[in-house]
Amino acid sequence: MEIQTSAGGFAGLDVQALAVAVFKDERADEGFLKELDEASGGLVRSVLESEELKGKEGESVYLHLPAGAAGPKARRLLLVGVGERADYRASHVSQFGGLAVRQLRARNVKSVGLVPRHEGGDAARSASAAVEGAVIGLFEPDKYRTVDKEERTVERLVVVAAGADEEALRRGAERGRVVGESVNFTRDLANEPGAYMTPTIMAERAQEIANEFGLDIDVLDQARMEQEGMGALLSVARGSDQPPKMMVLTYMPEGKERVEDGEDFLALVGKGITFDTGGISIKPAENMELMKYDMTGGATVLGVMRAVAQLKPPIPVLGVVPSTENMPSGKATKPGDVVRAMTGKTIEVINTDAEGRLILADAVSYAKKLGATRVVDMATLTGAVSIALGDVNTGILGTDQELIDEVIESGREVGEKFWQLPLDKEYSKQIKSDIADIKNVGGRKAGTITAAAFIKEFADGISWAHLDIAGTAWGDEAKPFRAKGPTGVAVRTLLNFVEREAARAGGAKEAEGKTK
Ligand code: BES
Ligand code: ZN
Ligand code: ZN
Repeated sequence: MEIQTSAGGFAGLDVQALAVAVFKDERADEGFLKELDEASGGLVRSVLESEELKGKEGESVYLHLPAGAAGPKARRLLLVGVGERADYRASHVSQFGGLAVRQLRARNVKSVGLVPRHEGGDAARSASAAVEGAVIGLFEPDKYRTVDKEERTVERLVVVAAGADEEALRRGAERGRVVGESVNFTRDLANEPGAYMTPTIMAERAQEIANEFGLDIDVLDQARMEQEGMGALLSVARGSDQPPKMMVLTYMPEGKERVEDGEDFLALVGKGITFDTGGISIKPAENMELMKYDMTGGATVLGVMRAVAQLKPPIPVLGVVPSTENMPSGKATKPGDVVRAMTGKTIEVINTDAEGRLILADAVSYAKKLGATRVVDMATLTGAVSIALGDVNTGILGTDQELIDEVIESGREVGEKFWQLPLDKEYSKQIKSDIADIKNVGGRKAGTITAAAFIKEFADGISWAHLDIAGTAWGDEAKPFRAKGPTGVAVRTLLNFVEREAARAGGAKEAEGKTK
């Protein structure tokens, strides 16, 4: 899709359709809507006065302007409700963009002018949100369909913000494209069947983004994992014929060679189970096919790194993705087996289906070995998180309240919700083992918390937060602004987080410079 911006008016815009945001209870007797109403020969007023559209979020009305009449070059108009004007944020602009292109694509529109009307907001930010929402909105999970596949495409998108700074608009739109495409990259990986997304293939995809966008990459194979003593990760891989991989991607800002001792170093760590059968503690058949998305945490890390490499924030970021299948076989780890993690900690494997925490244990340890001082890990870790929070909020837990608050706030800004669960030390009692240091399950109570308590055992000495995306990474139903299937949750939040951290680090450096 070709992406353009315009700081001029909507009237001369050479597109087939205009999509215009309409606020709750807005009338056509002043401002922008008055102008639009006049250009449309009174159609806008008629729609609003009939209350066919009240401006509530998610509502829309589609119109054809009468042939021959004066008015805008675009002959079709989509009015989109965006809710209260006072609450209108970048996250709403993004949903507006997604809804608009999905509705117009369904009507075979090839070129769209988006008028988000985020007049009070920062132009670059609005353009970014509008484009990102549109790119995300156009993703479909029907890759392997040969009939009834969504073949229509929007070929050209123009974001319109009359009077805005041209350069800011252009920059914003470009950022939106990078972010949207990276979210879709994550969704595409998550959507792939297990046969097409093995650890080896996932590592190839990581290698491709490293080559294309200029990231350092190291892929650990089984022999390297053995050298590192990653017994927890290897215990999960044992049952599979597919060799495990651990992808390590490093982004360094321009001019920076390495991270010095004592310097802040952020690592993102993501669970990359390319298919989770449960292993010997095998899962029931119903819905097992969905366990192809058990690598979404890893795909999220790759999506964020892909965008970071292009947006080039001034802070280094490390991405670590441990990847394996979880399969039953004659070689598989059995319930009751004891394995030794990279740190030397021994683990009694009570349930081989609690494999995510095992691979994350060694991945977090490895991130620490590489110098990470702050770790955010993400994983489709527990079914329990869907019971607690459904598909609305991602569960967040950790040891550093400031880090947790920053992630929650970064999410709020981009329209992704996180809800913190407690992680008191009492919960750790549930994972004490009689035979080893810890065990990999903590009983029926507080399943999401005891899973996090397990990872916490490997996150000592660092600042750490954990995202359980099991409930939010997959949408069972389509939304007006997004297809059903993989959601790409947390990519935008973490990118916003990285950019906020970069701004903070920049600010701190400046302050330091001033005091010198
Ligand atoms: N990958 C699953 C968690 C999951 C469940 C993700 C549903 C997405 C949707 C994880 O490896 C798992 O099986 N967890 C077990 C843990 C239990 C054995 C303690 C679970 O949640 O049932
Ligand atoms: Zn499992
Ligand atoms: Zn799993």
